[in-house]
Amino acid sequence: LKPVDLRHASRLVNHGPTVLVTSRHGDRRNVMAAAWSMPVEFLPPRIAVVIDKHTATAELVAASGVLGLCVPGRGIADFSYTVGSTSMRDVPDKFGRFGIGFDDSPTLGVPLVHGCAGWMECRVIPEAHTQSAYDTWFVEVIAAWADERVFSAGHWSFRDDNTALHTLHHIGAGLFGTPGVQVQGRRLG
Ligand SMILES: Cc1cc2nc3c(=O)[nH]c(=O)nc-3n(C[C@H](O)[C@H](O)[C@H](O)COP(=O)(O)O)c2cc1C
Repeated sequence: LKPVDLRHASRLVNHGPTVLVTSRHGDRRNVMAAAWSMPVEFLPPRIAVVIDKHTATAELVAASGVLGLCVPGRGIADFSYTVGSTSMRDVPDKFGRFGIGFDDSPTLGVPLVHGCAGWMECRVIPEAHTQSAYDTWFVEVIAAWADERVFSAGHWSFRDDNTALHTLHHIGAGLFGTPGVQVQGRRLG
């Protein structure tokens, strides 16, 4: 787990991976999957993430004003799908029940899930109208880390020797693609 310069934090989600949204309010901790997130500002890095109002996650995030965004690897695809298919309302401790460890992030105390390729701790940017009208949350990344086996010096490196950390891109119904064939674009002319 290596710190990522905030200038490069958006690159952790720039290519559209499914993320795990983690939350904590008091002693209650939770994790859900989100396929819908994207960078929206350069520096400080800001990210938009869609969190359905009906989720337990939305309730914890609204109460605490903080969340974690973790970028799961292929090695925890089953966990990622499962926490996106169950609610904390039915399974109060998804980490314990589905057997994945985490550490609380140093500043905001949101769970950083083991087995991920990247992690961010984020503060919610209060937007009363947006939060009541839509399911989109804007957050500011205050710190980021990555597993340097797959992301270092601000760049992803998806190779045959780090497949467990390849990011998950949701196709539908629990089917994910991972970054496979890569094509280097070259400037014409
Ligand atoms: C791969 C995947 C992607 C998902 N993407 C989103 C998303 O972008 N936004 C969202 O609100 N829910 C998304 N979901 C559904 C939530 O993860 C799901 O409602 C979850 O059970 C909420 O858990 P909670 O009630 O414990 O917070 C996704 C589910 C899966 C499996």
